[in-house]
Amino acid sequence: MACPASQVPSHAMACLVIPSSTAPVARRPSFTTFMSFVYSPFSQSSRARNAWFCAGLASAYPNVHDSSRVSEQRLCRGKYSPACRIFHVPRDDSAKASQVSIDDWRDPEAGDPKDQVMIFQYKGKFFAINHECPHSSYPLSNGSAFDIEDFGVVLSSGISCPQHDWSFDLHTGKSDRGSYKLQVWEVELRPGKFQDEETEIWVRRRQKIG
Ligand code: FES
Repeated sequence: MACPASQVPSHAMACLVIPSSTAPVARRPSFTTFMSFVYSPFSQSSRARNAWFCAGLASAYPNVHDSSRVSEQRLCRGKYSPACRIFHVPRDDSAKASQVSIDDWRDPEAGDPKDQVMIFQYKGKFFAINHECPHSSYPLSNGSAFDIEDFGVVLSSGISCPQHDWSFDLHTGKSDRGSYKLQVWEVELRPGKFQDEETEIWVRRRQKIG
């Protein structure tokens, strides 16, 4: 337990006297040090906000090949499950992401829908996008994935929102109408450490550069 100063014996106090020539001098941080602390992209809050979270095993996601709703149940590993998963990802700490039942996405306990990400696999590629449509907040789990083609050549992948029939590019987030943009998240496939080293899906908000 720390000893209060009033109880420190006087001879001990004497030992604490440091000659002024050798006493450490408190230095004011330089302007550069101060600014790097304020703006550092690696500050703790920034790291927490940008943290990756594990969205489960890749093999647990059905591979969507059709144009029915993304959330439709599909056969995967011998049982039917929705092809997409929704996670609520707190802005102040992404590592605390938690899965939300598709039917309860609007439940206040599921967190702000604006912080929900939808993850799914379309034709062998994994995508993570905002669950809410950027146009009018309709849940994109009701949307359908499709190939963006030009004269039969597949250029990209998209998702269409059934509410007003707008479409968004799953790679760039660009809309086929107006300047609305769907937020696309970063996805990484990583070898798992557990469960027979099965591939895991890791997701985080796309980093803003500059
Ligand atoms: S809400 Fe999605 S297109 Fe309007």
